[in-house]
Amino acid sequence: MVGAGYVGLVSGACFSEFGWDVVCVDNDSTKIEALVQGKLPIYEPGLDDLVKRSVTEGRLSFSTDLASSLIDAQIIFIAVGTPSRRGDGHADLSYVFDAVSNISMYAEPNALVVTKSTVPVGTGRDIQELLNKKNPNSKLLVAANPEFLREGSAIEDFMRPDRIIIGAECEKSKNLMKEVYRPLFLKATPIVFTSLETAEMIKYASNSFLATKITLMNEFADLCEKVGANIQDVARGIGLDGRIGGKFLNAGPGYGGSCFPKDTAAVVKTGQDINSPLSIVEQVIKVNENRKFSMVQKIIDSFGGSVSGKTVGILGLTFKPNTDDMRDSPSLVIIPELIRAGANIKVFDPEGMESAHNYFTNLIWCNDAYETMKDSDALVILTEWNQFRALDLERMRSLLRTPLVIDMRNIYNPEDMKSALFDYISIGREPVYGSKE
Ligand SMILES: NC(=O)c1ccc[n+]([C@@H]2O[C@H](COP(=O)([O-])OP(=O)(O)OC[C@H]3O[C@@H](n4cnc5c(N)ncnc54)[C@H](O)[C@@H]3O)[C@@H](O)[C@H]2O)c1
Repeated sequence: MVGAGYVGLVSGACFSEFGWDVVCVDNDSTKIEALVQGKLPIYEPGLDDLVKRSVTEGRLSFSTDLASSLIDAQIIFIAVGTPSRRGDGHADLSYVFDAVSNISMYAEPNALVVTKSTVPVGTGRDIQELLNKKNPNSKLLVAANPEFLREGSAIEDFMRPDRIIIGAECEKSKNLMKEVYRPLFLKATPIVFTSLETAEMIKYASNSFLATKITLMNEFADLCEKVGANIQDVARGIGLDGRIGGKFLNAGPGYGGSCFPKDTAAVVKTGQDINSPLSIVEQVIKVNENRKFSMVQKIIDSFGGSVSGKTVGILGLTFKPNTDDMRDSPSLVIIPELIRAGANIKVFDPEGMESAHNYFTNLIWCNDAYETMKDSDALVILTEWNQFRALDLERMRSLLRTPLVIDMRNIYNPEDMKSALFDYISIGREPVYGSKE
C-alpha cells in the first residue's frame, strides 16, 4: 500500500484483517516512525485496535523503503494524495506519478498496480504507458479501484461497502482483484467490473452527485428560512421517495473535507479542457463557496449586525465528526472571517485541536465544550460531534454571557431551546427567541 494516509492506512489495515500480508509504505518518515512505535498519525474510530491486532499477528508492517516492501508483492495499491493543483484546480498527480516511477523500478514482474487514489479519467491509461516505458520487461498490469470510504466510518465502509468498483481489462487483473476482495464477495458485496476510464469516472460522478445533493438542500434551507418552512421535514418528506433516498440531505454550513472540494474542482477542469462542461457542478462549487461566507453573515446578523469586540464560542472545527481532518473544513473560512469582523474566538473540537493548530493562530483553545461557552457572547455549533448533542442547557445558559446559540448542524430542537430560554438560530428552520419569553 503506497501512501499510509486516511485511505492507505485504513485499506492496508482492513486488507490485513482479511488475512493478506500488507506493507504500508510512506515517504513521510515521521508518519512511519509513529506507526512503527504503535502510534496512529490520524484519528479514525476503531483503527487503533485493527492496526494493533494485525501488527501483533504479523500481517501488517510499515516502511519508508519501497524497494524492500515490494519484494513478493503481487498487488501494489497507490493511495497517495491527489490534492488540487495550485492555481488551476486540476488534480495534482505529481505524487501519483512519483509513486508510479518508483514502483516501476522495484515491482516484481507481472505485479498488478492499482490506483485507489482519486485520479482524473485517463490517468490509469497514462500509468500503464509509463510503466511499459520505464520497465517493459516486467509486464506490469494496471487496474483502477477508486475508494469510497468516509472518514469517521472508514472501517465499516471498507468492510461493508455498498459496492466495489474495479476498472480492469485483462482476466489476470480481474482475478487478482477478485481474490484480494474475496472476503467481501462472500458477503455478497456487489462488484462492478468495468474499464479503467469508467471506474475513474464513477468516482468523480459519485462525489459530484453527492456535492450537488447537499448543496441543493443548503439552498432549499435558505428558502425555507424565508418562507417559514422546515428543512428537516422537507428532507424527510423528499427522502422517503425511493428515487431520492433519505441520506445526505442534511443542510449545513456547506460541504468541505478532503474530497468533495478538490474532486468537484478537478472534474470541472476535465470537462472544460475537453469542451464538455459540467455546468451544474460548476454552479455547485460557486454556491458552496459563497455559502461559507453567508454563514459568517448569518452569525453576524444573529448578533444584531456586529461581532466587533464580542467573544464567540465555537464547537467543532473538523469538516465532520469522528475525524481529525481539517482539510477544507468550513471552519477555515468562517473563523478567520469572524476574526476579521472583530470577534474573539474560543474553540473546542474533540479530535481536531492538534491539526487545527496548523491552520489558526489567535484562538482561545479550550479543553471542553463548557469552557468554550464560559463568558462567550454566543455559541456556534459547526460540527455535529455526538458529545455536543446533549449538552446541559441550564449549565450552558449560566456560562454564556448571552443565551444565543447558532446551530449550523440542527442538532437541537428549536422548541426545547426556546423552553430553555435561548435565542436559537439554526439552518432552514425558523429562529426562536426564548430570551424574550
Ligand atoms: N480521505 C478520504 O476520505 C478519501 C476517500 C476516498 C478517496 N480518497 C482519495 O484517496 C487518496 C488519498 O487520500 P488520503 O486522504 O488518504 O490522503 P493523505 O494525504 O491522508 O495520505 C496520502 C499519503 O501519501 C503519502 N505519499 C505521497 N507521495 C508518496 C510517495 N511517492 N510514496 C509514498 N507515499 C507517498 C503522503 O505522505 C501521505 O501520507 C486521494 O486521492 C483521495 O482523493 C480519500
